[in-house]
Amino acid sequence: MSMSECRIIDLPKVVDRRGNLTFVEENRQIPFEIKRVYYLYDVPGGEERGGHAHKRLQQFIIAASGSFDVILDNGSVQMRYHMNRSYYGLYIPTMIWRELDNFSSGSVCLVLASELYDEEDYIRDYENFRELAKKE
Ligand code: TYD
Repeated sequence: MSMSECRIIDLPKVVDRRGNLTFVEENRQIPFEIKRVYYLYDVPGGEERGGHAHKRLQQFIIAASGSFDVILDNGSVQMRYHMNRSYYGLYIPTMIWRELDNFSSGSVCLVLASELYDEEDYIRDYENFRELAKKE
């Protein structure tokens, strides 16, 4: 998948003196049906997450609280995104290697996913990923 498919998507922000509100709807703000939601939290300082690509899974990543970096890689080009607002997210299509690091204390990484959890969908070996990405 080309890196141009990866993109930051701005989300609606309902500004209110009582506190702001942002929402995400499947097939509206993001281009897939949401089958699963998970979140990373209590990430110790200096830790990294991710380190895999997916054959079918698409994801949308939001910094629900705090900040972290997402590094995307299509097998030849890398892009680093600093995520630090809850009114936008990062769309990740299929066949993109991702790593997450630089988590701030108390950060929450919210992930919307197009598929149920399936270990068979993971590519966890980077060289294997590069070979498969070349054939795409
Ligand atoms: P993994 O996707 O490797 O974590 P990350 O990429 O965020 O660092 O998942 C870590 C573990 O959690 C792995 O053993 C599988 C399990 N897991 C589930 O059971 N269900 C899920 O929806 C996810 C995302 C992970």
